[in-house]
Amino acid sequence: MQKNITNLKQLIRAGRGLIPASTVILNGTLVNVMSSEIYKADVAIYEDTIVAIGDVQDYTGPETKTIDASGKYLVPGLIDGHIHSECSKLSITSFAKAVVPCGTTSIVSGLDEYISVSGLEGLKEVFEEINASPLKVFWGAPYRTPYTFPQSTVAFNFNKEVHAKVQQWPECFGVWETVREYVQEEDEETLGAIEQAFKNRLPVFGCAPMARGKDLNGYLCAGVRLDHESYDHEEVVEKMRNGMHMVIRESSVTHFLKENIRAVTEVNPAFARRVSFCTDDVTATDVIEKGHVDNLVRLAIAEGVAPLTAIQMATINSAEAYRIDHLVGSISPGKIADILLVDSPETFHVNAVISNGRLVAENSKLNYKLFAPTRSSVLSSELKCAKTTKSDFEYRVDLENGQAKVLAMNVIGPFVRKRRDVILEVEDFIVRPDIEQDVLMVSVLERFGRNGNKSLAFCSGWKLKKGAMASSAAPDDNNIIVMGADAADMSLAVNHLIENGGGQVVVADGKIIEFLSLPVGGIASDLEPEEIAYRETLLTKAANQLGCDLPEPLMYMFFLPITAIPDYAITDVGPVDCIALETFDPILELVKDK
Ligand SMILES: [Fe+2]
Repeated sequence: MQKNITNLKQLIRAGRGLIPASTVILNGTLVNVMSSEIYKADVAIYEDTIVAIGDVQDYTGPETKTIDASGKYLVPGLIDGHIHSECSKLSITSFAKAVVPCGTTSIVSGLDEYISVSGLEGLKEVFEEINASPLKVFWGAPYRTPYTFPQSTVAFNFNKEVHAKVQQWPECFGVWETVREYVQEEDEETLGAIEQAFKNRLPVFGCAPMARGKDLNGYLCAGVRLDHESYDHEEVVEKMRNGMHMVIRESSVTHFLKENIRAVTEVNPAFARRVSFCTDDVTATDVIEKGHVDNLVRLAIAEGVAPLTAIQMATINSAEAYRIDHLVGSISPGKIADILLVDSPETFHVNAVISNGRLVAENSKLNYKLFAPTRSSVLSSELKCAKTTKSDFEYRVDLENGQAKVLAMNVIGPFVRKRRDVILEVEDFIVRPDIEQDVLMVSVLERFGRNGNKSLAFCSGWKLKKGAMASSAAPDDNNIIVMGADAADMSLAVNHLIENGGGQVVVADGKIIEFLSLPVGGIASDLEPEEIAYRETLLTKAANQLGCDLPEPLMYMFFLPITAIPDYAITDVGPVDCIALETFDPILELVKDK
């Protein structure tokens, strides 16, 4: 993506037809997202750049390759406007294998999960991995790490001094996922990151679920350009009327597209050109079964959006929102040659993918072998925390026998946790979880060797009748989270992760039922996407067998440390009231036996 005088001269000559194209795509029908037209046109590519559209006869030379697009539509490579690829548990290499054949050639990402476990050194390794893949990543520097309020523990604290440095990097395209609460609380680090962004003329990407009225105004006055989290279409409308670009999220666990798109289909079709798509968190299983951004195009069309408009949402609109439209998002001279061959705009099935001017995928598969790099110790998955015992997961109180009134975090949807007060038995100074009332223990253990923090609280909604499950992949801190009906099984689950360098595990009756190793930083794997998807299914099945009927039991669990989600969370510093932005004591009252 770097331009210099030498390659600019070459491109100018290629654009003028003075040197022949490397590749021409002939006989296709162009979906022109800039002019909102669909018409017959050929495309000439010089190395990785589009140099002409229309009649390209004069651009061919003896060495020019030809791609025949007869009967196909030419669509710009799709852009996922906001994604933590790590949450799929796929390394960048595996993620590219999964999504590029679906037509996704660019993602906008903070790569923040890698940063939280391996800092800038790990990030640089990931940049190298990206450069060797057919997937482009437009990186936004996380506004700070950790994202939590109050501050939890991660391997690397991203602060305003780090921003002063990294915002100069060529990989940096903005400030990533600036959470509203930090802006509202006038956090010095967050405002320092924004100050740098203004200096460097970089856009500030937002994260403001349920920001309305004065809260929204205050947030916008900090200079945030776009948002990707709205719970309903009225929220979308208000944000758009107040000048924001909207990135509609349809993730594996939160399905907002159908509701959010009503802002366009019911309120005002003119909103359409400032709406784009993201998946935020997506599972390998979903990508394999449903597709990626291509699926969001199909979903939007099914909701009544015109096909060309839906394609704009997945391409040029994202590019404009993120100010990367000089590079990607359209098929026009000077842009990177990311071009899809699609069966029709209406049915939108991607038949072939050209990335950086090279045909890389056909019939839903990469057409060459892509290998993961050798990992250095920076991205190893050593969990730097002490082994646990059963007693680590027993909630001790100053009462021998009786009852405790307890605040349990009750999961309503993947991104909503409400207060549920329950009465639990106290025996031998321990507050017992209660499977009849669906109350389990949940704990987060710091795993970067920084302070040995360990929290313990109560949760509800998972319905495990026995056993435990644990994960070292748990955005955004990626400390170990463990949940269970049995303290001994919780300890076994955590110790298994420590012994095996991270992953996800389901245990019961003192035995490991399923385990998925995540050797890349304890959060991702280089396994093939199909293999990860299969192993995900086994983990879900194991959790289901223990009684959990949630669609994604481990994903619902591993979102618990995110404090930007209402109303409760848990991090290594304790259970968190996300409205008051402080830790709380889950024991509301202790009553002695009479
Ligand atoms: Fe996000």
